[in-house]
Amino acid sequence: MPLFDVYPLYNVTPVKGKGIHVYDENNTEYLDLYGGHAVISIGHAHPNYVNAVTNQVHNLGFYSNAVQNPLQKQLADKIETLSNCKGYELFLCNSGAEANENALKLASFQTGKARVVAFSNGFHGRTSAAVAATDNKNIIAPINAQQAVTILPLNDIEGVKRELEKGDVCAVIVEFIQGVGGLDQGSTKFFEEVDKLCKANNTLFIADEVQSGYGRSGKFFAFQHYNVTPDIIPIAKGMGNGFPIGGILIHPNIKSKYGMLGTTFGGNHLACAAGLAVLNTIEEENLMENTQEMSAYFMEIAKTIPAVKEVKGKGLMIGLAFDFEVGQLRKDLIYNHKIFTGGAKDKHVLRILPPLNIEKKHINQFFEALKKALVAMQETV
Ligand SMILES: Cc1ncc(COP(=O)(O)O)c(C=O)c1O
Repeated sequence: MPLFDVYPLYNVTPVKGKGIHVYDENNTEYLDLYGGHAVISIGHAHPNYVNAVTNQVHNLGFYSNAVQNPLQKQLADKIETLSNCKGYELFLCNSGAEANENALKLASFQTGKARVVAFSNGFHGRTSAAVAATDNKNIIAPINAQQAVTILPLNDIEGVKRELEKGDVCAVIVEFIQGVGGLDQGSTKFFEEVDKLCKANNTLFIADEVQSGYGRSGKFFAFQHYNVTPDIIPIAKGMGNGFPIGGILIHPNIKSKYGMLGTTFGGNHLACAAGLAVLNTIEEENLMENTQEMSAYFMEIAKTIPAVKEVKGKGLMIGLAFDFEVGQLRKDLIYNHKIFTGGAKDKHVLRILPPLNIEKKHINQFFEALKKALVAMQETV
């Protein structure tokens, strides 16, 4: 049976991973500055992770949410400690889109309203309400278009005020660092004003931390670079280091009710074991501090490269903007220099999303390769 052909694929077949590297079937080593799309937070095949998942699957891989699962409570407590989001409650699911879908649904339940405000170039996943909160027509099917969503330009505070004062907006959803869009960020004033406007208008503020969370921005959450208090915080990618897990952190003002949200697989034993191993490793190996240090090192070098027109993002969620489209450059980096990088909706941006335990030597290797690739590109022009 052929696979439904929705992904343009690079001709590389990773079969093994270790730390910052993946290896193909010929044992060729690739430097992974893409982290499988910001998913690999603590490095491939980290021993803590391998042991936790292995031990758990030997005991109990799955049971439903109809019984006690103390691992969920352990995970919730650990997230509270590391994120310092005191008093929030946790609902577990399986992916980023599902986290945002639950966040939007909860905002609608809580406020009794239905319209959502989101921002240009944002991305929140591909399910019903989540995908409707994007301005990418290619991924919105007619069935999704029934959702009431208003898309505003990032930083349009007057627009947010105008829309929220109409009284029918259940949620404002925002990425504090846009991932898929290309690493743009709103201003501090904008984010802090949006937070206040939400509180004044009975609208919930959703901080989509699916990509920027879990230490990737150098703080546990990217919104923590600002003075804001989101009502709901969707999380996913870095949470399981590859094991599918997502969730939402829910402000204590929002009260739960049986049946309000639910899932078969969300919060299963194996996912929780993976999630706990990730958090323990972030803590034990000081990966948030490493993220800050490696980010500063990376950005300093990036700024010395004339072809790099702008360095965007925070922590290890970095965009290098060029004045040409980076498709060919990415191919050259993969095939000739054995380095994975990411692209963005903005085709001029190279996205760097490595595991958070990256070291200076890996960053040096990347810049040596980038310089060579840029020279080679000039020679072929
Ligand atoms: C900010 C953000 N939200 C949501 C999603 C959707 O996550 P998933 O692909 O796990 O559904 C993504 C995925 O790239 C994302 O970057």
